[in-house]
Amino acid sequence: MSVWRTKSIEQSLADAETPEFQLKRRLTAVDLTVFGIGVIIGAGIFTLTGRAAAQYAGPGVVFSFVIAAICCGLAALCYAEFASTVPVSGSAYTFSYATLGEMLAWIIGWDLNLEMVLGASVVAQGWSSYLVTFLEEIGLGWPKGYGPDANADFGQPNLAALLLVVVLVGLIAIGIKESLRVNLALVAVKLFIVLFVIVAGMFYVSGSNYDPFVPARAGSVSGEGIHQPLIQWAFGLEPQTFGVLGIISAASVVFFAYIGFDVVATTAEEAKNPQRDLPRGIIGSLVICTILYVAVALVITGMVKYDEIDPDAALATAFRDVGRGGFATLISAGAVAGLTTVVMTLMIGAIRVVFAMSRDGLFPVKFAHVNPKTGTPVRITLTVGVFVAIVATFTPIGKLEEMVNIGTLTAFALVSIAVPILRKRRPDLPRSFSVPLNPVLPIVAALICIYLTLNLSVETWLRFLIWMAIGFAIYFVYGYRNSRVGKGGDDKVVEPLHM
Ligand code: ALA
Repeated sequence: MSVWRTKSIEQSLADAETPEFQLKRRLTAVDLTVFGIGVIIGAGIFTLTGRAAAQYAGPGVVFSFVIAAICCGLAALCYAEFASTVPVSGSAYTFSYATLGEMLAWIIGWDLNLEMVLGASVVAQGWSSYLVTFLEEIGLGWPKGYGPDANADFGQPNLAALLLVVVLVGLIAIGIKESLRVNLALVAVKLFIVLFVIVAGMFYVSGSNYDPFVPARAGSVSGEGIHQPLIQWAFGLEPQTFGVLGIISAASVVFFAYIGFDVVATTAEEAKNPQRDLPRGIIGSLVICTILYVAVALVITGMVKYDEIDPDAALATAFRDVGRGGFATLISAGAVAGLTTVVMTLMIGAIRVVFAMSRDGLFPVKFAHVNPKTGTPVRITLTVGVFVAIVATFTPIGKLEEMVNIGTLTAFALVSIAVPILRKRRPDLPRSFSVPLNPVLPIVAALICIYLTLNLSVETWLRFLIWMAIGFAIYFVYGYRNSRVGKGGDDKVVEPLHM
């Protein structure tokens, strides 16, 4: 018995074919790209662009988006290779079970839960803010004390967020294809709004707002002590923002806007031709979103001087400030539609990861049974839904998006490292997509991810360490003893990795 035991790729593939655990294969490359865009474009572009420009980087936030995109692009290549080699549900978790051993796989699965469950909760609260803004703009409102509140404490209910989560869990439980149909319509609305911001905004761009494009570095406006980036605290640097360091801090924040392309890999078992279509879906959705993000960042920082950007609702406020209140209402409505798909897709991703972990016995196996009528794992759907509902309704999670970033970046770093390891251990496996320049490129990907995590705040690191401690406790109390691989289903113990 060892925490380094691996689950063979063949076993993962065979599990996916077991009838009682089998999901229906019906998604195409276009479905997967839409799915990717549906989860990528969300709260990040609608709110973080403004905040990152105002607080960290000025118009230089455009470079931050490019840096974050490079980081995600490299990680996406690694994901694409894995997804084309091990096309089973569970994404990075399953890949690492085959390569890095059970304990590291558990850590990645636990991180992915952080990414997707907390991510869905953060975005559900963002959705509720846009809903209430929209309702107010059309002369309606939402009962005070029962909606989003920037100063809310634990326990103050956000019933708008709850409403969204309940409706979405119902849709997901009915069946993924049905959910994707809703997704398709909402993604169309979201793309329209983003393109609208770019095209309409171009007419209000003033060259003087780009001067300076990269503001000179200045004292910190984002806080000191545990609020400063870990790297500044660790090396005793004077807390600062703007300049080159500001651009990098902003990159670690706007990274949130790209989160989601990896969720495409969690649908591997529902793809008709995963080896061919998963790499297309992952890379395609990421490329489209990067182009849109850079354009939106250029337009917003060109419309409003960076130090006057509204950090909470940059896009809508920018249009209101130039006398286009009607456009602002339209953007709020688009954000409501757009964020809906993000919450839904992140929940679907979380369900797939918990499904894979339960099938392996790291969570109770009976969770993983698929309802024969709907073809979806209904018990897990409800459990994940209840978690997201509680966090989104009763906690001030909206301010914790950095937690989502750190969980995701850690998972990306581990997946990247796993690529050269699997190449070495299983050179025989068919790979319909291979990362170029292995092992250099995967190692660079991992280093960039780690570097970005160091630019997140000390506070975020402390919370992350607590999350990891809880994860380890659950693994050693439950998962380690109940793992199917550990019980002899397929245990192939490998040497511990020296890393
Ligand atoms: N990328 C997603 C968003 O921006 C999580 O909302």
